[in-house]
Amino acid sequence: MSNVAKAEGKLGVLVVGLGAVSSTFMTGVLMARKGLAKPVGSMTQYDKIRVGQGEEAKYLPYNEIVSIADLKDIVFGAWDVYPANAYESAINCEVLKEKDIEPVKDELVKIVPMKAAFDHNYAARLDGDNVKDAKDRWDMMEQIREDIRRFKAENGCARIVVLWAASTEVYVPVNEKIHYHLADLEAAMKADDKEHIAPSMCYAYAALKEGAPFIMGAPNTTVDIPAMWELAEQTKMPIAGKDFKTGQTLVKSGFAPIIGTRCLGLSGWFSTNILGNRDGLVLDEPANFRTKEVSKLSTLESILVPENQPDLYTNYYHKVRINYYPPRNDNKEGWDNIDIFGWMGYPMQIKINFLCRDSILAAPLCLDLVLLSDLAARAGRFGTQRFLSFFLKSPMHDYTKNEVPVNHLFQQYVMLKNAIREMGGYPADEAID
Ligand SMILES: NC(=O)c1ccc[n+]([C@@H]2O[C@H](COP(=O)([O-])OP(=O)(O)OC[C@H]3O[C@@H](n4cnc5c(N)ncnc54)[C@H](O)[C@@H]3O)[C@@H](O)[C@H]2O)c1
Repeated sequence: MSNVAKAEGKLGVLVVGLGAVSSTFMTGVLMARKGLAKPVGSMTQYDKIRVGQGEEAKYLPYNEIVSIADLKDIVFGAWDVYPANAYESAINCEVLKEKDIEPVKDELVKIVPMKAAFDHNYAARLDGDNVKDAKDRWDMMEQIREDIRRFKAENGCARIVVLWAASTEVYVPVNEKIHYHLADLEAAMKADDKEHIAPSMCYAYAALKEGAPFIMGAPNTTVDIPAMWELAEQTKMPIAGKDFKTGQTLVKSGFAPIIGTRCLGLSGWFSTNILGNRDGLVLDEPANFRTKEVSKLSTLESILVPENQPDLYTNYYHKVRINYYPPRNDNKEGWDNIDIFGWMGYPMQIKINFLCRDSILAAPLCLDLVLLSDLAARAGRFGTQRFLSFFLKSPMHDYTKNEVPVNHLFQQYVMLKNAIREMGGYPADEAID
């Protein structure tokens, strides 16, 4: 029997950033609950997990194992630097056709972004003016807390989850003096240390203090620092991050195990892609791209580990490129060239050309991360939610203790299934399904 508190009442989903990913996510949820679209790609809506073994085995959808919030109970809110409401944003981003937006227009126009906690130095290519006037970083955070409280009260929400689906900020390297202890982080916020305190940290801090799980969908350092782990522990709130695992990295974390499992060698992996949405525009700035690059590069190193197999994986050349190319808008095209070697070192090549749609791949992840973080909070789980690594490019892990992240897609899936089983009152297991 599951002892997780039931998902009763409304679930407020507050999204930072009301761009391509968020408007596609919201439109899809609103359309799905009217029965006008299918939430394809969402594990919480489609996947079935085996519980029990042998003759007892049953395959159940997640919400028959644990209580998961119903789509009908979701209420959306957002913050953005630009004032466009969710309907205007969905139209402007050109991800979805008008016929897939119009039926929920009435609901989308009501999602009007609150003023953003923003600092131009963190995303130089953005110049919207729907921005908070904050005295310092502490005040910025207090204003976000106020927003969360007001939204919760006005909409009669029982619970809130905060999801970052805003632009990638410039790279903030972890600084032991500021980011390792909560007291230091708070002091830096009060001292208005703009260099070390990104706006995203103000959102995360505010969410956790207001008793809301926080999910980082971009590669920003934000909650990937010991001070935030301390805050999550203090507030008993789940955190998850970072960076939605959607296109090229999903392929990489699913394909690299083929090479590793068959003990083939790797001499190089070159990934490049073109995209033309606002995300691509922000990532065209080298300081913002650096954040993404660090995240994308980390995937391979923990799957094909040189120390474990020096003959096969020493010194492979791994490169990731993103090129801003407006004509493609949200329809990203990715190319992977993989140089492998086999028996007696003979070289071979593999080419993967993925013509994907960025926001179409990200939207179901938003839904799953939100619903599963809400579940984790109800189950009393707090701190980094490793079972959500399945959805993330650069899963958080305790690097101060040299913990190695799990990037292998199928190992991540086992972690996901076992967490759901355990929350549902079933034993974790690794039997083959
Ligand atoms: N789509 C994918 O496949 C994918 C995968 C992994 C990560 N991501 C990340 O998801 C994020 C969203 O992607 P997108 O395509 O929707 O981008 P987008 O540019 O369309 O939307 C981002 C929005 O965030 C807003 N914003 C920026 N800083 C803000 C702040 N401090 N507060 C509030 N709003 C802010 C911008 O004004 C913009 O409207 C990006 O960081 C992207 O890197 C996307």
